[in-house]
Amino acid sequence: MVFFSGFALCAALSSAAALQIPLLSSSNQAALGHPHGTKPLVNSTELQELISGDRLMMRAKKMYEIAKLGEEEHNHPTRVIGSAGHLGTLSYIYETILELGDYYTISNQSFPAITGHIYESRLVIGDGVAKSAMPMGLTPATKDKEPVHGDLVFVENEGCQASDYPDSVSGNIAFVKRGVCSFGTKSEHAGRKGALAAIVYNYEKDAVSGTLGTPSPDHIATFGLSGEDAEPVLEKLDKGKRVDAIAYIDAEVNQILTVNIIAQTTQGDPDNCVMLGAHSDSVTEGPGINDDGSGTMSLLEVATQLTKFNVSNCVRFAWWAGEEEGLLGSDYYVASLPEKENKKIRLFMDYDMMASPNFAYQIYNATNALNPNGSEELRDLYIKWYENEGLNYTFIPFDGRSDYDGFIRNGIPGGGIATGAEGIKSEKEVEMFGGKAGDWYDPCYHQLCDDVSNLNVTAWIVNTKLIAHSVATYARSLKGFPERNLTAASLSATSNAYNEDIKYHGAKLFI
Ligand SMILES: *[C@@H]1O[C@H](CO)[C@@H](O)[C@H](O)[C@H]1NC(C)=O
Ligand SMILES: *[C@@H]1O[C@H](CO)[C@@H](O)[C@H](O)[C@H]1NC(C)=O
Ligand SMILES: *[C@@H]1O[C@H](CO)[C@@H](O)[C@H](O)[C@H]1NC(C)=O
Ligand SMILES: *[C@@H]1O[C@H](CO)[C@@H](O)[C@H](O)[C@H]1NC(C)=O
Ligand SMILES: *[C@@H]1O[C@H](CO)[C@@H](O)[C@H](O)[C@H]1NC(C)=O
Ligand SMILES: *[C@@H]1O[C@H](CO)[C@@H](O)[C@H](O)[C@H]1NC(C)=O
Ligand SMILES: *[C@@H]1O[C@H](CO)[C@@H](O)[C@H](O)[C@H]1NC(C)=O
Ligand SMILES: *[C@@H]1O[C@H](CO)[C@@H](O)[C@H](O)[C@H]1NC(C)=O
Ligand SMILES: [Zn+2]
Repeated sequence: MVFFSGFALCAALSSAAALQIPLLSSSNQAALGHPHGTKPLVNSTELQELISGDRLMMRAKKMYEIAKLGEEEHNHPTRVIGSAGHLGTLSYIYETILELGDYYTISNQSFPAITGHIYESRLVIGDGVAKSAMPMGLTPATKDKEPVHGDLVFVENEGCQASDYPDSVSGNIAFVKRGVCSFGTKSEHAGRKGALAAIVYNYEKDAVSGTLGTPSPDHIATFGLSGEDAEPVLEKLDKGKRVDAIAYIDAEVNQILTVNIIAQTTQGDPDNCVMLGAHSDSVTEGPGINDDGSGTMSLLEVATQLTKFNVSNCVRFAWWAGEEEGLLGSDYYVASLPEKENKKIRLFMDYDMMASPNFAYQIYNATNALNPNGSEELRDLYIKWYENEGLNYTFIPFDGRSDYDGFIRNGIPGGGIATGAEGIKSEKEVEMFGGKAGDWYDPCYHQLCDDVSNLNVTAWIVNTKLIAHSVATYARSLKGFPERNLTAASLSATSNAYNEDIKYHGAKLFI
């Protein structure tokens, strides 16, 4: 079954049994007793019962071993795109699905990905180091990877128009306010006017951890700066005083090829697909066992257990690459869907970070008012399940931080659950979920310590069961779930233009 061109497609072979993870649980036999090759229609309760913490943990240990393949090049375990750890992850996913025989059709979608490496950076304003200064993701280096020196030049408004940049930025450093348009646009404008570097300062007190997004030949070395550090500078500039600065970034931006892996059930209505995804890559800094090893392995386990059942609607699993570089894989996938294929996806469910050690059960607050019709029905499925289980949950912003973004921007209903990244757990949430107030939900977020010990297995089992429930429910029937609406699809393609809540594209701010 060819979904669309650009895919290397290969039929799943059933001869890879040697690679199989041993089955631990005798309950795995429960659904197998159906002769003549017929299987019972998927049942949520039964699928959930097949989810086992032992099997998940066995996968986690395996994934950490795979991350260690990255040690040679990076001196520590990592599964960042381009690394041996990521290639190992891709093989692991591929082989796990392959050994499930002809239940799935697997395809690799290869795509170009931009990777940025920042080796060193420094920003000195006047005679002090600007402590909050952070180089933007995918920033180019300063000229010849050497420090540049110039005056800070105030840019009018938010620096979204070329006319906001006075001629005096040429040979100097543009000082631009955050907001309205993307960091990439500001860097481009400053570059075209001949600036040596640009600083985007926050309108809020905090630092700015941003990305320039897709590289442009006009981009120049660009820092984010906290509102707090910007304030004294603005005061001086306002009084007509001169403020000079030295900016230095040693960085590299490269293009590589990486791969999304897609597995679709051969059974089930191929015109009505239930889609779900997790990202196969980690950041450079660590092995990414929670982010998003957890979601990756939850999907592998649900895909494995699902083979004991039949489905009415097709189920399509995706393991995205390049999420950490700015949702590259999922964006590429949705952008390359012809309209006819887009219409077949009834919804997309995102499963990123399922087992944070200081977890909260978080549901993306995806409403139909701001998102494609059906997003809210999905949100409500999660609510109902936690309520039935007697568990608490919180809503979190549906603000573009993970792979659902490309889907909702292109008219496909979306949503998902998470357990928290660098946010801080409140006292109230400790009452709701246990854990520690004042700490990050995931204290090892994007760090070396995101290893096997960085998983709360209780949360992981709970959420993997919920993933199983979401798959079973919609694979069984989409009755009552909003039809895809082409009128609405074309409308909601632009919906985020007026959804001002979208500030992220992946883990980093882009605006
Ligand atoms: C799955 O269900 C379909 C439709 O009812 C049926 O044609 C097919 O044989 C079933 N497959 C299995 C393996 O049970
Ligand atoms: C699913 O399975 C459970 C447990 O075996 C059973 O009680 C329930 O009725 C089944 N649901 C459906 C819709 O068949
Ligand atoms: C798809 O990618 C996986 C993982 O990199 C690889 O093992 C497999 O050989 C590829 N299959 C095809 C048909 O390209
Ligand atoms: C969820 O989003 C809607 C807007 O779509 C908003 O009205 C509501 O307040 C949000 N709920 C929470 C708890 O954030
Ligand atoms: C849910 O939260 C309440 C506090 O809001 C707490 O009393 C209760 O124990 C929590 N339930 C669970 C299952 O943790
Ligand atoms: C998981 O979290 C719960 C609630 O905070 C805690 O009681 C339990 O000890 C944690 N388990 C692990 C393995 O971290
Ligand atoms: C959303 O879906 C519901 C249920 O299918 C339908 O009644 C409604 O008209 C749809 N709304 C839009 C804006 O498409
Ligand atoms: C499609 O969307 C339009 C407006 O966006 C709405 O009026 C119409 O009822 C929708 N149709 C269906 C079948 O949901
Ligand atoms: Zn992630």
